[in-house]
This record gives sequence, structure tokens and C-alpha cells, in this order.
Amino acid sequence: MTKKGDFLSLADCSARQLWAWLELARDLKAEWKAGGNKPLLKGKTLGMIFQKPSLRTRVSFEMGMLHLGGNALYLSPNEIGLGGRESVADVARVLARYMDGIMARVFAHDHVVELARHARVPVINGLSDLTHPCQGLTDLFTIWEKLGRLSGVKLAYVGDGNNVVNSLLFGGSKLGMHISVGTPVGYEAKPFVLQQAHKFAAESGGTIVTTHDPHAAVADADVIYTDVWTSMGQETEKAQRLLVFPPFQINAQLIASGKATAIVMHCLPAHRGEEITDEVADGPQSVLFDQAENRMHAQKAILADLLAD
Ligand code: CP
Ligand code: NVA
Repeated sequence: MTKKGDFLSLADCSARQLWAWLELARDLKAEWKAGGNKPLLKGKTLGMIFQKPSLRTRVSFEMGMLHLGGNALYLSPNEIGLGGRESVADVARVLARYMDGIMARVFAHDHVVELARHARVPVINGLSDLTHPCQGLTDLFTIWEKLGRLSGVKLAYVGDGNNVVNSLLFGGSKLGMHISVGTPVGYEAKPFVLQQAHKFAAESGGTIVTTHDPHAAVADADVIYTDVWTSMGQETEKAQRLLVFPPFQINAQLIASGKATAIVMHCLPAHRGEEITDEVADGPQSVLFDQAENRMHAQKAILADLLAD
């Protein structure tokens, strides 16, 4: 049997595919809230490789599989030795003999690409140094749920030009959003990511702008988004980053530059008091915990599509 597909980056997905998953996530969420899901993945199994820690990704995938009648197996950073104890290709070949799908959280994006190339079952990227597509799809779902539309929505991302903003750029630009990215000098999103996002935006009617002024980024925004200043794997840079990033903190003064109705988002985990204040994270504009819940609903849509017979 040939696999239906992999999910490594939102850059690989068509707008049609994204909307199909968003609509399925909405339906699965409603069905679950109404009492439970149909066992669309009865007897199916998902292997979950983690090279880094996780709360949301691990638990939301595991619960998602359970809701759909399947099972998930957690493989900790100490167990597999991806690319060390055993080559990435061999891990992919072996796991695919036991499992119906693989989800992997890795350091090097090339490792999820390599897993997908050698696994005969679907591979889902649960975060790499380049992208966090499950988070990105969830964020689109949350914005759609809260604001009722995606096309024409202005999303301001303020902070580090990292994996999370890359996924927002790829996904948002495919669906006609206006994205402004405010970062310190030297911490911009990578030029090739911006170039691709510009191309997708030109096709969808969206726009992409970048700035080093956080207030300019947030001006008139419908969505204000931030993430940690130091991502997993960058810990040695933490002291230097703490010197550079404070003007990019999402606080009451900064969000006042956005629309009064703007929602505030963060993929979590948050370093409260650094990139976001308690006042904003726990304030009336915050949708942080609906966003965290939605990881489960968005991923169930991906799983139900890719792993079903
Ligand atoms: N947002 C997110 O991916 O959280 P975890 O690192 O806890 O999985
Ligand atoms: N940018 C963060 C996201 C964590 C979910 C990291 O990579 O650590």
C-alpha cells in the first residue's frame, strides 16, 4: 500500500488541503464536545519520536489517537538515538514495520525529511528547527474559530524569527492573511522562508511585511502572536538573547497598538515575564488555552486523513 502523504511543512500544502483539514478539525471538535468521536482509526497505531521535551504535542497526539480508536506509542529522547545509535533511514524502515504512522519532534529538519523518505507510512513533523506545522495548522484553526475568517486577517508576530513564525508565514500566506513580523536585528525569519511566503501571498491575495519596530508590527492587528525568545536547542544563546529581546515583549502597552478586539496568541510553553507578561497572558484578549486545546482537534484531522484506510 502506498502512503497517502506526509505532513512536514505547511509550505507543501495547497489551500484546498488546508481548508479540508480545518473543516474536518471543526467537525471532529464539535463531535467530541457532543459526546465522543467515531472510531475512524480503530486499531491504528502512531509511533511518536521525541528528541526534545513536550507537553502539548505528546499529550494532544496521544489523546487524539485514543479518541479516534487507535493507540500512540511514546519514544523518549533516550530510547531511539535518532541518527546516533541508528541511522535515520533505518529507524524509519523499522518503525514503519510496526506502526501505521510516525510523528517526530527533531532538532534538524532534514531528519523529518529523511524519515519521510524512508518510511512507508505517513510521517508528521511534530516540530523541527525549521517549522512547527501542527502548531501552524492549529493556529489557523483557532484564528478561524475566533474571528470567523482567515483571508484578510492581519496577524502580527513579534519576537524571534523561529520555527513557529515560519509555519505561520507558510500557512497564513497560503490562505490570504496579512502577516507582519517584528523581530530584533539579526533574528529575522530566514530569507528563503520570507521569499516563499511572498510567493504564496501573491497567489492568495495576502501580504507579508517585516520590521524591527514591534509597535509598527502590531499596528491595527487582529491577531498578536509571540513565542519564546530562546527555542529548544539554542540554550547557550539565552543570556545574549535576553539582552536583545525585551523591547519585543508582548505587554499591555504593546497590545494597545493593535485593534481593541485583537486576540493574543502564544504556542506555549511561555516564559512569563520575558516574551509575554502575566497581565496579557491571563487577560481578556488571550486565547492561549483554547489554542492549546485546539492542537488536539487540528491533529485529529491530520491523523484521520493520513492514517485512515
Ligand atoms: N506548543 C508546543 O508544541 O508545545 P510542546 O513543546 O509542549 O509540545
Ligand atoms: N520555538 C519553540 C516552540 C516550542 C513549542 C521551540 O522550538 O522551542
